[in-house]
Amino acid sequence: AQEPIIFSGIQPTGVPHLGNYLGALREWVRLQNEATAGTKLLFSIVDLHALTVPQDAASLRKWRREAFGTLLAVGLDPSRSTIFYQSESKLQLPEDTTLDDADARAQLRLGLFSYPVLQAADILVHRATHVPVGEDQRQHLEFSRYTANSFNHLYGPIFPTPEALISPAKRVMSLKEPTSKMSKSHADEKSRIILTDSPAVIHKKIKVALTDSEPSITYDPAHRPGVSNLLEILSHFEGQSCEAIASEFDGATLRALKEHVARQIAHHLEEIRERYRSIMDEKTGYLDSVAQQGAAAAQANASVTMRQVRDAIGL
Ligand code: ADP
Ligand code: NA
Repeated sequence: AQEPIIFSGIQPTGVPHLGNYLGALREWVRLQNEATAGTKLLFSIVDLHALTVPQDAASLRKWRREAFGTLLAVGLDPSRSTIFYQSESKLQLPEDTTLDDADARAQLRLGLFSYPVLQAADILVHRATHVPVGEDQRQHLEFSRYTANSFNHLYGPIFPTPEALISPAKRVMSLKEPTSKMSKSHADEKSRIILTDSPAVIHKKIKVALTDSEPSITYDPAHRPGVSNLLEILSHFEGQSCEAIASEFDGATLRALKEHVARQIAHHLEEIRERYRSIMDEKTGYLDSVAQQGAAAAQANASVTMRQVRDAIGL
C-alpha cells in the first residue's frame, strides 16, 4: 500500500499571523507529531508562487526567510519533516514565473493564471496523498486531482489522487473588521497578531480590537462578531467551547475578557517567539543548513517521481 505523503505550503510573506497559525501551522505540527512511522511530510515556502505578483527582491528575500524560521519555531522538526523553499527544489523552475522588466505585465497575467498549475506541479511531483488546506482552498485541489487522474488514465498509476485535509479550526477574524478574516493583506497592522508580537504589542492590539457596546459577554457570531472572535481565539487555546467560555465570563466586563485573551495569546506564543529569535540568529547558520537539507530531500523525492514519469511515457 502507498505510504502517506503529506504536502502543504505557505506564502513567503514574512512572519505568519495568528490566523495562519491556528488555521494551518498548528495543524501541520499536529499531523507531524501524530504521523505513523512511514508517513512522509513535506512543507514548502512557496516562493515561486510569490512571483505571480510583483515583488521587491530585498523584501522577498527577508520574508521567505522569516516564513521559514516561523515553521521551525512553531514546532516543525527537520528530523521528521522536510522543510524547503519551493525555488530550491530545482526540478521545477518554470520560466513563466520569472518576472523580467521587459514583459512584466504579460508575465504577471500568466503568473496568476498558472497558480493552480504551479500548485498541482508541487503536489504531483512530490506524489502527495494528503494536502492540509483551509476550507477556502478545497477548490484549488480539484485541478491537482484532475491532473493526477488524467495522467494515470493515459500512462498507468503513477500519481496518487491527492486528498484535502480540511483544517477543523474556524477562521480567525480581523481584530478591526471582525466580519472578514484576519489577513496580512489588510493595511491596518492592528487587525492581526503576528506570531512574534511582544506581550505589550499583543495587549495593545487586543485592547483596541473592535467589539460592541453591549454590557454582557455572549457568543453570537452573527450579531456580535468582535466579541465572538475573541471567544473563538480563547477556545482554540483552551479547548473549551465558546459558549462555555462566555458563561465563565458571565457578569465580567469586556475589559476583563480582553485582558484574559491578551494574556492567553501572549502565553501561548511565548515559546514560539523565543525559538524564533534563536533560529533567526544568522551566526549559527542553523536555518540555512536546515534549508539546504530540506532542498536536497525535496529534490530527491521529486527525482523519484520524475524517473517514474519518464519511464511511464517512454522517455
Ligand atoms: P493570508 O490569508 O493571510 O494571505 P495565506 O493565504 O498565506 O494567508 O494562508 C496560509 C494558510 O493559513 C492557509 O492554509 C489558510 O487557509 C490559512 N489562513 C489564512 N488566514 C487565516 C485565518 N484568518 N484563519 C484561519 N486560517 C487562515
Ligand atoms: Na490568502
